[in-house]
This record gives sequence, C-alpha cells and structure tokens, in this order.
Amino acid sequence: MRIEIPREAERFGANHIYGVQKVYELDSGLRQDAPASENSVIQNLPYETLYEIERDMAIVVPIRDERLKLLEGVLFGIPHQCTVIIVSNSRRAPVDRFKMEQDAVETWSRFTQKQLLLVHQKDPFIARALAEAGYPYILDENDLVANGKAEGMIVATLLARILGKRYIGFIDADNYFPGAVYEYVHEYAAGFALSKSPYTMVRIAWHSKPKVVQSQLFFAKYGRTSVVTNRFLNQLISYYTGFETEVIRTGNAGEHAMTMELAMLLDYATGYAIEPYHYIDLLEKYGGVIESAHPEVMQHQVNVFQIESRNPHLHESKGEEHIDDMILASLQVIYHSKICPEPIKREVLRELYRRGILSKGEEPAPPRIYPALLHVDLEAFRDA
Ligand code: GDD
Ligand code: MG
Repeated sequence: MRIEIPREAERFGANHIYGVQKVYELDSGLRQDAPASENSVIQNLPYETLYEIERDMAIVVPIRDERLKLLEGVLFGIPHQCTVIIVSNSRRAPVDRFKMEQDAVETWSRFTQKQLLLVHQKDPFIARALAEAGYPYILDENDLVANGKAEGMIVATLLARILGKRYIGFIDADNYFPGAVYEYVHEYAAGFALSKSPYTMVRIAWHSKPKVVQSQLFFAKYGRTSVVTNRFLNQLISYYTGFETEVIRTGNAGEHAMTMELAMLLDYATGYAIEPYHYIDLLEKYGGVIESAHPEVMQHQVNVFQIESRNPHLHESKGEEHIDDMILASLQVIYHSKICPEPIKREVLRELYRRGILSKGEEPAPPRIYPALLHVDLEAFRDA
C-alpha cells in the first residue's frame, strides 16, 4: 500500500492523534518491487509487511439479524491470514437466524479451508465464563450478556486475547462491498505498520457514502452524526491546546482496530457511545489533564491513525430515526467527561435543545461505562 505520511498531529499528553491519511495505491506490490529511494511524503508498505501483521490480527464481525448475503460478502472480503471472530446476537426463534448463520459459515469455512470462531452473545457458557473471570459487568438481569454491539465487541476482544492475537479490528456485518472490507483490513495493518507504539488505534474515515438524492447517485462525505461528534471532540482538544483544530474526523468510526495492549486498557461505553468514548477515554487517561492510572503508558505514545478508505461505504439502511439517538449517545460521553469544561458543556446542551433531542432544562443521562479488561482472569475465562 502507498499511503501518505500524516500531515498533522495533535499532541494531547501522551496521545498523538494524526490527521487523516490518504491512500495512493491500495496494493504497492512486494518488497522486491520497492524502489531504493521513495518520495518522502508517501510511505510504501509492501504486501509482505501488511500480510505479516494480518496474520496476528483478529477481525471481529458483530451481527444481529442481518441478511446472510451481507454477512457472506463481508467474509469474502477478509484476507485469509486474519482470524475471524463472529459474535452474533441474532434471533433463535421463531426462525433460528443463528442456525442459518452457522450453516452459511460452515460452508464457507469448508470451501476456504479457513478456521473461524462463531459465538452467540447469549450463550450461557460465555456469561458463566465472564462471571468466573471476574467480569460480570456486561451481564443483564437474566445473567446473560446484555444486548448491544458494544457488549458483543467486549466478548470478542476477550476471545481474541485468549487466542493470542496481537491486533483486533472490527467490521460491521451489514456492509455491501466485500472490496471495502478487504480495504479496511489492509488499512488497519497499514496503521500498525506505521506506528512505533504498542498502544495504537486505527480508525477508518470513509471517503464517501453513496446515497440516492433526487434519483441521482450522490457521494456524501460527512455523516450527519459524525459532523456533530467531531466538532465537539475537536473543541475539547482546542480548549486545552489553545489552538483551533479539525484533526478528529472519525468520532463515530464503527470500523476501527487496536493493538491488543490498547484494547485491554480502554474502558468501554455501551451502545453508539463506544466509538466517541474511545477518544474521551484516551484524552482523560493519557492526556495529562488528570492523573493517569497507568503512568507506564504515559512513557510511550498512544497513537491514533485515521485512514481514508477509497471504496465507498454502503451499509444496510435502517431508517433515519436513530441519527438523534447516535448524536445523544455521542454528546452524552463528551458532556459527562471529567475533562469537559463548562463552556463546552453549555454548548452541548444548546445543541441538544436546538435539535429537539432534549427539552430545555434537561441534561443527558450519565453514560454506562464498562471497566477495562485489564483485570479479567484470562485463565479462568479460558477454562470456563
Ligand atoms: N453482536 C451484536 N450484538 N451485534 C450487533 C448488535 C448486538 O446486540 N446490534 C447490532 N449489531 C451489529 C449489526 O448487525 C451490524 O453488523 C453492526 O453491529 C452495526 O450495527 P448497525 O445497526 O448496522 O449500526 P449502524 O449502521 O447504525 O451504526 C454503525 O456505524 C456507526 C458509525 O457510523 C455502527 O458501527 C456504530 O457503532 C457506529 O457508531
Ligand atoms: Mg450499519
């Protein structure tokens, strides 16, 4: 892959948040093809470099009642060298959707000679394993893992950890383009290849999202939720640095990847807040504004890469209603952050009132946050 080096970086304590990087060639050939001297603003990452990282990477596909054709398309796009973990929360009745997924996945695995892990989020053994490993936080009143993509992601992170994976990446199951999936995985690997820190996150910024507007295809660049989320995250950074910034473009990036070291250190917010909360958690823990519980991490850099994908992003359309829910979830974690200053809090409230998401005088409820996986007893989890 040929990728530009980051043009800008915001430093916030130990955090280095790099500006969006464009890809100039999705595939730049093998190591032997690399010219002796390269243009210094473009980095050449030969196929082998990406391949070696991907061999240590788990790709997690969270799924809940998606069309099987979409899930299959996503599987077709994941490079063979990655380990696939599918966490399903699909219905078991009246139609057993999970069984259908299982059949499709088994066939695919036979055809491709690929091993993968498929688990149901409501499997009582998973719940028991979590309880025995000292991580009951994501269990619900029925003592099963609660509904939600975030809860499924947490289960998958622990599975990837006990499989000994070094990297973990997430890709939604409702993506229409196998080519986009293939690209995201290589971009995750590219971010890790560029990083010199064990604490690294890579987030995908979509180049475009196709829509039909007045019977014409229109390639939108910015999502309606992410413009709001990004604006407030950037304001939070500017407040402390004193310099206005637009560095954050991926406040709501569902498609993201992390080194396992970082994945085990982060706290996780439930629901749509999980992705914006990555930023909040990093700014709080390693930003130097409040004391860090992990001074050893402060000795390193925490790197956040944002890579712009070339394929358009097209996923299942699930109606417009949840835009407001996503904005509320995103602003909730910003509003309740320990480092959110009064002026930004007031502006968050104004935004929520103006959009009619909250009524005047109301405050967003505090978000539900799950503690980091650092203290999970992995032996007990594996045994159970
Ligand atoms: N395991 C599991 N459990 N998966 C779930 C659950 C659940 O309870 N609920 C949803 N999923 C799966 C869906 O099947 C899909 O593959 C993925 O999680 C994302 O869910 P969507 O319902 O498609 O979310 P979205 O498209 O509105 O939002 C996506 O993009 C946002 C940013 O643009 C998500 O990735 C968000 O997390 C992200 O913020
Ligand atoms: Mg979706």
